[in-house]
Amino acid sequence: MVKKIGILTSGGDCAGLNAAIRAVTHRAETAYGWQVFGIRQGTSGFLQHPPEMIPLSISMMDQGMLRQGGTILGTTNKGNPFHFLMPDGSYQDLSDRIVEGIRQANLDAIIGVGGDGSLSILRSLAQKGDFKIVAIPKTIDNDLGVTEKSIGFSTAVSVAVEALDRLQPTAASHDRVMILEVMGRDAGHIAIEAGIAGGADVILIPEIPYDIAHVVNKIQSLKDSGRNYALIILAEAAREVSGAEGVKRGLGEMLAKQVEERTSAECRVTVLGHVQRGAQPTAKDRILATALGVYAVDLIHQGKFDRMVAWQNRQVVDVPILEAIKAYHAVDVDGVMVNTARALGICMGDV
Ligand code: F6P
Repeated sequence: MVKKIGILTSGGDCAGLNAAIRAVTHRAETAYGWQVFGIRQGTSGFLQHPPEMIPLSISMMDQGMLRQGGTILGTTNKGNPFHFLMPDGSYQDLSDRIVEGIRQANLDAIIGVGGDGSLSILRSLAQKGDFKIVAIPKTIDNDLGVTEKSIGFSTAVSVAVEALDRLQPTAASHDRVMILEVMGRDAGHIAIEAGIAGGADVILIPEIPYDIAHVVNKIQSLKDSGRNYALIILAEAAREVSGAEGVKRGLGEMLAKQVEERTSAECRVTVLGHVQRGAQPTAKDRILATALGVYAVDLIHQGKFDRMVAWQNRQVVDVPILEAIKAYHAVDVDGVMVNTARALGICMGDV
């Protein structure tokens, strides 16, 4: 009997999702002769009865898919079936309806590509409906525990570095302080890695609350040394020591105002936003997505479920999904990235 497996992408999109879908389809078809179905819009595809799913085959996936950003299956980060936003603005628990959709799909296993939020939802549904799942980690924020890398992070960092590369010459031409605000809902991984790679003078991350006085001192000392510009990168979730809560929007603008009030510098702000998610995947993300996709299918073949494939010590391994969800991965304030930045004299906002 042909084995039927499903794949869905859930949560915010990122570069490399299509590479994962392609790898799963390829491995399932060629190694095991299974049929793969792509579920539309994450678990929301199961709200329709019959479910919204499309048969996938290698022949559909020409080489273009490997290079393509986004996800051909669609996704949503507002599709929590236990707390579903209805058109009239109310919330309803639609989990029974989704579980019924999954039963109708008659799949032997489902591969979910997601971050901690989506994987936790998928796991709850699996427990409720008693069906088998395997997870693949993706998030540009790279804050999922247990795996060293998640799909999408490398591309997001590359886009941010390219932005700094473009901002530096214009900053130097106009004697300006350029402020680049990057994504990272709770974690500063994108900001710190892009900041080091892109030659930032100041890196502000939520893990290290900043004091504006130190940022101003850094800008002043650059000026005193003869430098006519500065580059600042900050994570959207960065926060001041004195601030009770992180500012959710407009943090870059707020920082620009603070700097301009305290120095003679002219600031300009770039908010990178979703540009970091929609790019063509880097080689690293394509490789990661492909390796994780192949391994996820192999796990199903081995009969191992409720597991997430993960990248650890140059290898793909598998861990309980619960472990990955529980182990949040923030930037280590005493780790190699922060120490490297400090060693280069980059201001982290605390000294
Ligand atoms: O979690 C990924 C992420 O891109 C965060 O970095 C960002 O805060 C958030 O999603 C943006 O979500 P939305 O697409 O709903 O604006």
